[in-house]
Amino acid sequence: MQRLTNTRARFRRSLWRFCLLCVLTQGESALATERPIVIAHRGASAYLPEHTLPAKAMAHAMGADFIEQDVVLTSDGVAIVLHDIHLESTTDVAQVFPDRARDDGRFYAIDFSLEEIRQLRAHERRGPDGEAVFPQRFPAMNGLSSVPTLAEEIALIAGLNKSRGHKVGLYVEMKASAFHRSEGQDLPAAVMQVLEDGGWAEQPELVFLQSFEPDALRQLKYELKTDLPLIQLIAENAWDENGSVDYDAMRTDAGLDAVAEYASGIGPFLMQLYRGADDQGRAQLTDLAKRAKERGLLIHPYTFRADQLPPGIASFEELHRVFFEDLAVDGVFSDFPDRSRALSERFVNQAEKQR
Ligand code: G3P
Ligand code: CA
Repeated sequence: MQRLTNTRARFRRSLWRFCLLCVLTQGESALATERPIVIAHRGASAYLPEHTLPAKAMAHAMGADFIEQDVVLTSDGVAIVLHDIHLESTTDVAQVFPDRARDDGRFYAIDFSLEEIRQLRAHERRGPDGEAVFPQRFPAMNGLSSVPTLAEEIALIAGLNKSRGHKVGLYVEMKASAFHRSEGQDLPAAVMQVLEDGGWAEQPELVFLQSFEPDALRQLKYELKTDLPLIQLIAENAWDENGSVDYDAMRTDAGLDAVAEYASGIGPFLMQLYRGADDQGRAQLTDLAKRAKERGLLIHPYTFRADQLPPGIASFEELHRVFFEDLAVDGVFSDFPDRSRALSERFVNQAEKQR
C-alpha cells in the first residue's frame, strides 16, 4: 500500500514537472503561473447572467486568470460578445423585434445591426420553453444589462487591469466562423482587428484564441499570421456542433498530430478526459490528456460547474482534484471562477509540499 502511495506521489510530481515544463517551453503561452489557470466561462456566469459586463467585472474581482468572450458579428460587421448565433436564449429580442425571426423561428444576431442590438436587454439563459436553464442561479433579470461589443468588453478588462493593478487575460472564441462566412462575414479577421485596435494582438501572454473549427484556427495562424496561442476546442460529434468536423477523429493520434501543427492546446469536453467512476468510486480516465501532453499541447477542459457535477463526482473539490492531480490539466473553464481559483491554489500547494 505504501509503495502504491509513493508511486502515485511520484507520478503526480512528474506530471506537475511536465506541466511546468510545458509552461516554460511554450514561449508564446499565456501561462505565467505555476498552477492551472482559471478561465471564467462566459464571466462569473454562475452568479450573474452570462456575457454581461457585470459578470465580467465580477470574474475579474474573483481572481480569474482569463475571462472568456464568445464572439459573433452583427449585420454591420461589429464583433459582439454572445454565446449563440441566435439572440432569443439570452435577450428579449422576441419582444423588441417580434417580426424579425427567420423561417426556423430563430432570431439571428447577424440579421441585426449594432444599433438594433443595443436596444436589447440581456437576461439569464433560458431554454426553448422559456424557463431558466439554471433556475438556482441569478433570478430573472430585465433591463440591467445589454449585449456588449468585444471592444467594450476588452476596454472594461483593460480598465480593471489598470485600476486593480492585476492583469487578467482574454480568452476569445470565434463562434461559427463557417456560418459567418456563408453570410458574407469574416469573423476571425473582425476579431483580430478589434484586438489590434485595443492593443492586445501582440500580447500572447494575455490572449488565447479558441474555436471548434480547425479552419478558423488555421486562418488565424497562416492567413492572418497571428502569434497568439490557439486552442482547438473538441466537441462530441453527437452535438452536431460543426457538421464538417469529425471530433472522434480529432482525438486519435493522427488527429492530435494535425492539431499540434497549428494549435498550442486543446479544449476538450471534460467527459472526454474523465469517463465516470468504477464500483469502488475510482475515477476512470481516458488517455487523451496523456497523448495531448506527449505532443506538447496544453489542456483546458470545459465546463466546471458546481451545480452540475459529472457522474461519479461527489463535490466540486473532488472534480478539481481529479483534473488537477490525476490528469494534470493546464487550466479549466469554470462558471465559478472564485471556487476554481481557490482550488487551483490549494492543489498546487499540496503538490509543492509533496516534492
Ligand atoms: O469555449 C470553451 C467552452 O466555452 C466551450 O463551450 O459552448 O460554452 O462555448 P461553450
Ligand atoms: Ca466558449
